[in-house]
Amino acid sequence: TDFVNIEQLAEFIAFDGQKLLQKLTSMGINPEKISLKEANLISLEYDVKIQHKNEKGNIKQRSPVVTIMGHVDHGKTTLLDYLRNSQIAKGEFGGITQKIGAFHVLTPEGQRITFIDTPGHEAFSNMRVRGANSTDMIILVVSAIEGIQPQTLEVIKLAHQNQVHILVAINKIDVPGARPDLVEKQLKEQGKLDLEPFGGNIPVVHISALNGTNMDLLLELILFESELMELKEDYDSLAEGVVIESRRDVDNDEKSCTIIVQKGTLKVGDHIIIGNNYCKVRSIKDDKKNMLKQAFPSYAVEITGIKELPQSGDVVFALESENKAKVISQRRIKNEEELNSQEEQFIQGSGSKLKF
Ligand code: GTP
Ligand code: MG
Repeated sequence: TDFVNIEQLAEFIAFDGQKLLQKLTSMGINPEKISLKEANLISLEYDVKIQHKNEKGNIKQRSPVVTIMGHVDHGKTTLLDYLRNSQIAKGEFGGITQKIGAFHVLTPEGQRITFIDTPGHEAFSNMRVRGANSTDMIILVVSAIEGIQPQTLEVIKLAHQNQVHILVAINKIDVPGARPDLVEKQLKEQGKLDLEPFGGNIPVVHISALNGTNMDLLLELILFESELMELKEDYDSLAEGVVIESRRDVDNDEKSCTIIVQKGTLKVGDHIIIGNNYCKVRSIKDDKKNMLKQAFPSYAVEITGIKELPQSGDVVFALESENKAKVISQRRIKNEEELNSQEEQFIQGSGSKLKF
């Protein structure tokens, strides 16, 4: 197996070598023989991941994770409702999406796609930033009636910043007066998108999310793009993922959160670090509330067993033992406290009463 030396690791996580030595010793890791797994673990604490080839792992294809984005009311949730035969849009307060949702769809051929629905309202740009992270591609939904709007442009910018491939879905083509052709031109000229109809590489599909027109085409496009991406992941390693959102049940006060598994397989009973806390996974459910024993790469699932509500965007990872999870959790909490107190000293020092 591969080992990393302490100098390499210290450099990689930009951490003082002497302190790292203390850290390794306190964790019971031999500093002369740091395995890639241990190095990963430590670097994860700093939210850095070491890329390495895993020759023993069980590398298999994973399904694509697709984020649906666009201006408010352009039909993102309706699109998902059609694909998964649900009625979420109708039940939303004020008809607008206010949180990120994660869903899965099985194509007629049985292929799985994970979808992330994001709000289009301008107030929720932080959720759009998260939605554009950790996704394989973005479906940019644009109304064929309204055309380019401020959040359409915001999404294009986010996609560029994160270097995520865009597929364009021009929606509401059933509405009389819809001009998808004009919207394409707008996207090319104002949005500077290299659309396929003009010889570029960004596919466009004209849909009606309400009637389901061309939704099969959209699914085909997604699968085609994801094949080109050769999405593969190790199914055997300890799970790693990211928190989409978390909630507390009003009836029984149980805390739960939705996460996307990005690597490895998450199992019921796993000891995980989630944010700064650790816990044992009590249950895993898919978006239709089916109980699962395990969740594979690209799965979006709801887990219970968490003691504290994590923040959206928090990293999740499983560990071999509860003890390890506990140690890392304590260390993370301590690190944060130290950082906070440094910040406080800094604020006091500068004589300001500002609080972050
Ligand atoms: P936010 O999440 O708040 O940004 O909105 P959204 O993009 O999810 O839009 P939503 O799916 O809630 O749809 C907004 C309105 O447009 C609803 O009244 C939908 O019924 C309607 N709508 C969505 N797609 C279509 C479509 O293809 N045709 C028609 N005629 N109406 C549509
Ligand atoms: Mg919506």
